[in-house]
Amino acid sequence: MSIQVVGTGAYVPERILSNDELSQMVETSDEWIRQRVGIAERRISVSESAAEMAAKAAERAMEAAGITADELDLIIGATISSDSICPTMSSYVQGLIGAHCPAFDVNSACSGFLYALDTAAAFLARGGYRYALVFGAERLSKILNWQDRSTCVIFGDGAGAFIIAPGEQYLASKLFTQFDNNALDIPNGQGSSPFYEREVGDALVAMSGQETFKFAVRRLAEDVQQLCTEIGITLDDLTWIVPHQANTRIIELCAKRLKQPVEKFYMNIERYGNTSSASVPISFDELARSGKLKKGDLIAMCAFGGGLSSASCILRW
Ligand code: ACO
Repeated sequence: MSIQVVGTGAYVPERILSNDELSQMVETSDEWIRQRVGIAERRISVSESAAEMAAKAAERAMEAAGITADELDLIIGATISSDSICPTMSSYVQGLIGAHCPAFDVNSACSGFLYALDTAAAFLARGGYRYALVFGAERLSKILNWQDRSTCVIFGDGAGAFIIAPGEQYLASKLFTQFDNNALDIPNGQGSSPFYEREVGDALVAMSGQETFKFAVRRLAEDVQQLCTEIGITLDDLTWIVPHQANTRIIELCAKRLKQPVEKFYMNIERYGNTSSASVPISFDELARSGKLKKGDLIAMCAFGGGLSSASCILRW
């Protein structure tokens, strides 16, 4: 048994942080950020937790699916920026939307939403589940070093959500992990133990941009190609590719490597930056609501991030 997406939703906070405003905080420029990354502005939360943003995205997804929170059998959320370790963000979301089902988080950095979707698909395949809420939500602004221009210009806050049910849309998926904490590292802080003798870094994003960049291009291209081969379709058969929104140049190089027109890749990085686990569901929701998706369209979703990790899947709409 496979799954189908019966509703999607997204939410981004109102506060817009432009490249020009960032240029007053660190030594950077609108021109550098647009040319090297493709971002013009991003959204930053000033008063909402990631869980509150997730709940708003979830409510929009439930409305699109025509269901109430009572009908949910499962909630799986992806995040690297929860406001608490316990309760989990998914537990908070359960409370905020008034659901009564089991809820837990997964963490696979920017690949997290697709890991969560694959986990939910496995639960639904087991039987006994009707509707599941799967979301990615991030308040990354809380784990950025706002003095580090190589990372603070890249990220943004937001949330995206899917309601899924048993169905036949989910044709193939691939998860990949290759340990590397040099390319991308977010320590969890020193902690309070008076006994622990090793140093642990601050809970802030540290990244080797170029290493992550190369990993991203290689994985996005290989994963999507491999999934197409697995289900006996060609890349030309894909109507849309919804990639993680990390850098326009990563997406352009991936398009070139796959010999596909870049227009096939849905992009909104210019407006939101990299929202980590929220980026794929926010992008997919925009695409779905744009009216551009037609029944039968083959759509690949693909992401990469800390771990290092990557994840991808193909849906028939
Ligand atoms: N403004 C101006 N100059 C800058 C900035 C900035 N914001 N940031 C870096 N520079 C400078 C550097 O200091 C360097 O200067 P130098 O040549 O004088 O030494 C120059 O620009 C080039 O720096 P690079 O690091 O080589 O720049 P690059 O072209 O690689 O772009 C970037 C950096 C945008 C980070 C890119 O490597 C990238 O997008 N990498 C992938 C990141 C990513 O996808 N992360 C996703 C995973 S995140 C997760 O899972 C949580």
